Amino acid sequence: MNATLASPNTEIGVASTATDCRGAKEVLRIEGVSKTFATRHGSVQALSPIDLTLNEGEIVALLGPSGCGKTTLLNMIAGFEKPTTGRILMDGAPVTGPGPQRMVMFQEHTLFPWLTVIDNAMFGLRNMPLMSQRERLDRARYYLNLVGISAFEKAYIHELSGGMKQRVALARALATHPRLLLMDEPFAALDAMMREELYGKIQEVLARTGQSVLMVTHNVREAACLADRVLVLAPRPGRVVYSMSVALPRPRDLYDPPVACHAASLLSGLRQLHLLPESDSEHATPPRDLPLLSDADRHLADGI
Ligand SMILES: Nc1ncnc2c1ncn2[C@@H]1O[C@H](COP(=O)(O)OP(=O)(O)OP(=O)(O)O)[C@@H](O)[C@H]1O
Ligand SMILES: [Mg+2]
Repeated sequence: MNATLASPNTEIGVASTATDCRGAKEVLRIEGVSKTFATRHGSVQALSPIDLTLNEGEIVALLGPSGCGKTTLLNMIAGFEKPTTGRILMDGAPVTGPGPQRMVMFQEHTLFPWLTVIDNAMFGLRNMPLMSQRERLDRARYYLNLVGISAFEKAYIHELSGGMKQRVALARALATHPRLLLMDEPFAALDAMMREELYGKIQEVLARTGQSVLMVTHNVREAACLADRVLVLAPRPGRVVYSMSVALPRPRDLYDPPVACHAASLLSGLRQLHLLPESDSEHATPPRDLPLLSDADRHLADGI
C-alpha cells in the first residue's frame, strides 16, 4: 500500500514525458488547472491549481466531501467548462471543448426521455462511421445485458426506476469505448447487491478495452475495489490533499481482505484530514495495525 499524506497539490508529480518510467503511455495531463466561478454573490474558487496525469488503462478515483470540486474537474476535462488557470492535455493535445475520446457519465443520468432504452444506449455510437447499424445494436445490447437491463430495452426513460436509469446511463457510457471515461458517482443510485456485481463486470470490461477512467465516488470501499489510485480532495477551495495507490491484482472483490485493508486506510486518512462529517467523530479511530473495517466503519465507508 502506498499512501501519501501531503500538503495541498504537492504529492502528485507531473511526468515530464509522454511515457513514465514503466513505459505506461500518458493519456491525460492536467497542469496547474484551477476554476473560479463568478456568481451574483461574488467569486467562488471551486478548485485551486491541480496537477495530475493519468496513464493508459489506469483507473483513478476522486474522493471527497460535497462541494470540493470533483464535478467541476470532470467538466473541465470533458471540455464543458474552461479552466480559469492552467491547461488540460489529452494525448498531448490541448482540450478546447468536448470530444469523442472523452465520454462523460454525469452525476444526474441525462438520458433522453424521447428515446427508448436501446436508442439511448446506441446514442453515443451514432457518429461512428466504421460501425454498421447491426454492430451498434449488438454493442448496445451487450452493455445493457452487462448492467442487467436488457428486458427493458424498449421502455422509455420515465418507465424506469432511478437505479435502472443509472444503469442505462452506465451502459451508454461504456458502449462507446472512449479512450477516457469520466464517471461522476456512477453507482450511487444502485442497491448494494447490484453495485457489487457490477464492480466485477466493469473490471472485466476495462481490462479488455484498456480504457482509462477517472471516476468520482463517495464510497471508500468502492474506490479501493476499483481504482489503481485514489485522490482525496478537500473543500474551500477544492484541492488534492491525499493520494493512495492501490496496487492489488485484478479482478478484485469488495470482500478481499487487502481491498478492505486499503479502504480502512483511506478512511483513516479522511479522519486525519477531518474530511468526515462532524457527526462521525464519535467513531473511534481504528488501531493502525488492525486495518480491516469494523461494522461502524463499514457503514461509514459506504458514503462520506
Ligand atoms: N456553475 C457554477 N457556478 C457557480 N458555482 C459553482 C458552479 N458549479 C459549481 N460551483 C461551486 O463550485 C464548488 C464545487 O462544486 P462541484 O459541483 O464541483 O462539487 P462536487 O465535489 O462535485 O460536490 P458533490 O459531491 O456534492 O457532487 C461548489 O462550491 C459549488 O457551489
Ligand atoms: Mg459532484
